[in-house]
Amino acid sequence: MKEKDLLGLLYLPAEEIEELLNLGLKMKSILKNGEEAPCSLKDRRVITLFYENSTRTRCSFEFAAGRLGAQVVNISAATSSVQKGETLVDTGKTLDAMKTDFIVIRHPMGGAPALLAKTVKAHVVNAGDGMNEHPSQALLDMLTMKEHFGKIEGLKIAILGDIRHSRVAKSNLFGLKKLGAEVTMYAPKTLLPDGLDKMGAKICSSREEAVEGADVVMGLRIQLERQKSGNFPSLKEYAKFYGVNEEIMRHAKPHAIVMHPGPVNRGVELTCGLIDGKQSYIEDQVLSGVAVRMAILTLLNGEERSC
Ligand code: NCD
Repeated sequence: MKEKDLLGLLYLPAEEIEELLNLGLKMKSILKNGEEAPCSLKDRRVITLFYENSTRTRCSFEFAAGRLGAQVVNISAATSSVQKGETLVDTGKTLDAMKTDFIVIRHPMGGAPALLAKTVKAHVVNAGDGMNEHPSQALLDMLTMKEHFGKIEGLKIAILGDIRHSRVAKSNLFGLKKLGAEVTMYAPKTLLPDGLDKMGAKICSSREEAVEGADVVMGLRIQLERQKSGNFPSLKEYAKFYGVNEEIMRHAKPHAIVMHPGPVNRGVELTCGLIDGKQSYIEDQVLSGVAVRMAILTLLNGEERSC
């Protein structure tokens, strides 16, 4: 990869996305078959610096780095010197002074990883910044699609849910459009930011329209922690009028798959039947997460190294 850091998919060239997905496919097959992974990160130090909660993203970055032979340390803002008033830039300088090679950062403020990247020598990987981007999530979503369908070009992906507060929706839109997919979106107006059509999304006026002929139907979590009240009457009504259920899925292609970045509000964005059903690829996405993060760390570091 040309850049030192992975901050988002908006400016990542299509060829680099393809390269990440191809290496991700190889890593996923290593994980599935229980094969030995390359030691590309031997003697490298990786810090996961999380200012927001996480289960999948943090764990999978840590597993990915560990599988590649790195030494991994986690810092949670709640137990670090951030609580004593240390700035992000000073935290970064401290980690740099320890000869840290990678800082994987999640932060509630959009732009925080970019600020950190400017001030440290370490490679910075954005693990989600506010409502801005979540590039590794979009890459893992694309990895699941590429593995399942053999390609991204020409696929139709319907994204429904809390798009306004979602960094996952934006990174997916940027990445999917670059690789030639069609992206449709639907949400209540209060959960849909302006300007997504200019970024290439087709904004639909009903669930049925968004899902019609889709290969992939992606639900997004209602992010109550980022909302003031009043975006919709109640979760029950959201599920009834905006959620994805078996009836809405009949509009998708018969072979369509259901995806969700997690964590899921069961019965709100998607029915329990869809989450646990045959079309669900939600668990597969989790394994893609470890694989694609192995690819990200490998390519930022340079190239694959065998043990
Ligand atoms: C997403 C996130 O944190 O942006 N989750 C994730 O990384 N798996 C989506 C969400 O929190 O709803």
